[in-house]
Amino acid sequence: IRVAILISGGGSNMVKLVESMVGDHPARAVVVGSNDPAAAGLRRAEALGVASFAVDHRSFGRDRAAFDAALLQRLQAARPDLVCLAGFMRILTPQFVSHFAGRMLNIHPSLLPKYPGLHTHARAIAAGDTEAGATVHEVTGELDAGPVLGQARVPVLPGDDEHSLATRVLEVEHRLYPAVLRRRAEGITTPLYI
Ligand code: GRF
Repeated sequence: IRVAILISGGGSNMVKLVESMVGDHPARAVVVGSNDPAAAGLRRAEALGVASFAVDHRSFGRDRAAFDAALLQRLQAARPDLVCLAGFMRILTPQFVSHFAGRMLNIHPSLLPKYPGLHTHARAIAAGDTEAGATVHEVTGELDAGPVLGQARVPVLPGDDEHSLATRVLEVEHRLYPAVLRRRAEGITTPLYI
């Protein structure tokens, strides 16, 4: 199973995904792409022996469809069976997503359906939540709203600020995403809760 991973920054989730696809794992990472040529994750992908590319969204101005078309072309060149968004910070058009219907996953740093969108940790703390976490879901045309494939919960501790909570959530993301990917690659469709 050929897996493409899209990133926008450091790519810590991408690294964990790539490192998990070894041995008897039915999937292999075939490419890592980014909307930012300066994304540190691109260098990390190359260090892991995975081909990489960048499609700079800034060279398309406000033409989201043109960016998506360029990204689609680069992505399709790698013939992926599955696309994993991992710290990918662009909203993809429904047209783009339709090319990968049922074959695109995303990890979002909240317990969806709570807190779709940005600043999830600050919102959880502001709401006085005692739990937070991460969700892996199938990507649909609606932002952060597809079928849940896995969730991981962490406590919100007294004295947490958004950085300390983000650190705790990122750590479980690094365990959740590889586990969900392996289940998906093995055809297991029941959601995973850790
Ligand atoms: C992090 O905020 C993570 O919670 C979210 O994307 C951001 C960057 O992650 N999934 P990564 O280190 O680039 O994977």
